[in-house]
Amino acid sequence: MYVCLKLTLMQEIKAYVKLNKDRFLTELFELLRFPSVSADPKYKNDVLNAAEYVAAKLRQAGADQVEVCQTAGCPVVYGEKMIGPAKPTVLVYGHYDVQPPDPLELWKTPPFEPTIRDGKIYARGACDDKGQFYMHIKAFELMMQTQTLSCNIKFMIEGEEEIGSDNLGVFVQQNKEKLKADVVLISDTSMISMENPSLETGLRGLSYLEVEVTGPNRDLHSGVYGGAVANPITVLSKMIASLHDENNHITIPGFYNDVVELTEAEKHALNEAPFDLEEYKKDLAIDEIWGEKGYSTLERTGTRPTLELNGIWGGYIGEGAKTVLPSKASAKISMRLVPNQTSAQITELFTKHFESIAPPYIKVKVKPHHGGEPVVTPTSSIAFRAAEKAIEEAFGKKPIPTRGGGSIPIVALFEQELGIKTVLMGFGLDSDALHSPNEKYDIFNYYKGIETIPLFYKYFTALSAEN
Ligand code: BES
Ligand code: MN
Ligand code: MN
Repeated sequence: MYVCLKLTLMQEIKAYVKLNKDRFLTELFELLRFPSVSADPKYKNDVLNAAEYVAAKLRQAGADQVEVCQTAGCPVVYGEKMIGPAKPTVLVYGHYDVQPPDPLELWKTPPFEPTIRDGKIYARGACDDKGQFYMHIKAFELMMQTQTLSCNIKFMIEGEEEIGSDNLGVFVQQNKEKLKADVVLISDTSMISMENPSLETGLRGLSYLEVEVTGPNRDLHSGVYGGAVANPITVLSKMIASLHDENNHITIPGFYNDVVELTEAEKHALNEAPFDLEEYKKDLAIDEIWGEKGYSTLERTGTRPTLELNGIWGGYIGEGAKTVLPSKASAKISMRLVPNQTSAQITELFTKHFESIAPPYIKVKVKPHHGGEPVVTPTSSIAFRAAEKAIEEAFGKKPIPTRGGGSIPIVALFEQELGIKTVLMGFGLDSDALHSPNEKYDIFNYYKGIETIPLFYKYFTALSAEN
């Protein structure tokens, strides 16, 4: 007698992942070996090779129309599988470029030689974003192989996210038809923990700029001129220090004008999320936290605008000592923005203010770099509910909605140019050391992501059909 067993989707997923576990990891390692640093032109070829690799893997997984699309900068990899015009369409976005690996000497193993330690993959891009977007390609392969793909999929994997996606706006504008979709799905954010799965419902915007203070027309002997001519480093330091007041509020006039304050209920919900302050301090080896008075840590990172110094330089920083009064001092500054601030407006406010506080004995130049707009993603959409259900099924726990502190500039653009909302279904952890030495991604999270994604499609298609 034969018994016909129909496997549930979850069983099919588990079986397929089990069978292909090692290959899934080997392929991710191959991808991680490309030093695809978008910020540094010396890696240009590696960036192109990474793009070609992603395209090849999309083709192998079963995507059609796969293309490495040229832009004025690093290429965008596109691929799709259309199974029916009446079916909904999901646009998967990710980025194959990574941050520079410096400082190299702090890595325990080389950044582009992925190494497993204690169940974690150590490599630049392991979590941000190669490990995360590659889960989508493997989940797609799984759905193709098990014939469980229930809607249309488009992939758009870019190569300039880490430098502000400057050329992506044009690409999106020129490919509106090609990119048409019902929702954008992105895994490039964090969860609270694997025990407390969560979904980010917002991203902060960004305004990035560089300032330069110039004093005398040349570097001077600090004994001959020191004390009689203003030192640009001292002046810049004072100007920078004045940008926060004693309560750590930002002092730029008008900076908070458009900021939307959370309602008490929203604040309450946000602070309900599990957060262990002692653990947080321990992880960072700090004795005390810091921040804007009147707000909790979760409010500060998720809902408040900030101003950070990213780098500062000037004068002599080589070996030994050189007695010099430098001609110039500079700094890189970023401001994280929240609804309804805009990058252009904040850049303008900063520039005006910084110029106005410049004392007469120096000159100041403000050079804007790139920006991005803040977003809040809907929590009542079909796609968000599908993500909730997928996570609940895969993790055995309902995800907690949270507000993330990072930025993904293209998300606001998808909304603006294509009218498509985004679901941020990230599987990283804040402690994965994104942008830091020894970036990592837990192998467990990698497989968990691959298992969760097909469930998202199942629920998204089913819920779409109901509506
Ligand atoms: N994946 C991050 C953004 C992120 C990280 C969002 C963690 C939420 C949680 C992304 O790759 C990133 O680093 N973005 C940059 C912005 C870019 C314009 C340089 C950022 O947030 O600094
Ligand atoms: Mn990222
Ligand atoms: Mn990043």
